[in-house]
Amino acid sequence: MAGRVAAVIVAAGSGERLGAGMPKALVSLHGRPLLDWALDAFTGHPDIDTVVVVAPADAVPAVRARVGHRARVVAGGASRQRSVDFGLAAVEPDVELVLVHDAARPLVEAPVISAVVARLRQGDQAVIPVLPVTDTVKRVDPAGRVVATVDRTELRAVQTPQGFSRAVLLAAHRAAEQRSLTEVTDDAGLLEALGVAVQTVPGAESCLKITTPYDLWLAHRVAPEPDGVPVPDPAGRTAPDPADLDAPTNPADQAVPEPAVLSESGRPA
Ligand code: C5P
Repeated sequence: MAGRVAAVIVAAGSGERLGAGMPKALVSLHGRPLLDWALDAFTGHPDIDTVVVVAPADAVPAVRARVGHRARVVAGGASRQRSVDFGLAAVEPDVELVLVHDAARPLVEAPVISAVVARLRQGDQAVIPVLPVTDTVKRVDPAGRVVATVDRTELRAVQTPQGFSRAVLLAAHRAAEQRSLTEVTDDAGLLEALGVAVQTVPGAESCLKITTPYDLWLAHRVAPEPDGVPVPDPAGRTAPDPADLDAPTNPADQAVPEPAVLSESGRPA
């Protein structure tokens, strides 16, 4: 399938669990907002033609100033699903494929974007990056007692960007609205509900999702340093230096760098 490809980066979450006192996408990673990292990955990718950023409503002017001509910026909604709706509505009519990405995953890797787009171009209508689940997983009852051990060989942890045929994603969001579903956090799940086959591709361990202060601490170890020198791992990927992993891992023991505050001009204050 040919056609233009858009990335919709949803960045309108409040980031309450991170507790930074600002929208999560504006929190600093090595001196730059998380949003910038994801934006760079998509605007710099040869498969991506156009980008829409979905920002918190009150941060739209600041994000617009920061993003400039690199992306359209629209206000988000009360739930991630709503934010995706608003982002989709801002995608140009000639776009055929849409990748939806969480700004909360700033370290998205180019090969994963390529793999998602490649599968879509081969004709899949929904493609998601996944990782094997390495922990043993148990189902428990409300009292915390184990009910069953789940066979983890069949399980996958899901990342973003999730890629879709634009028409099918729009149809899935409309169908969800008709069923009064407004809080779904997984776009692929909406397509599954319609009976659309969802294809997986390998994700990347470094594409971690930042939810808690510990995740932000970890991202600082995984991310390339501001001088552009990545922290190498034995396999040669961008990953934590094993020496760092010997450091205390209790987030309370770690000084998380001060988040950048965006001024009205969109530059860090
Ligand atoms: O809250 P959580 O981290 O699961 O959100 C995943 C992504 O969805 C984040 O990038 C967040 O900014 C985005 N989001 C959004 N609008 C909302 C809630 C979340 O764009 N209302």
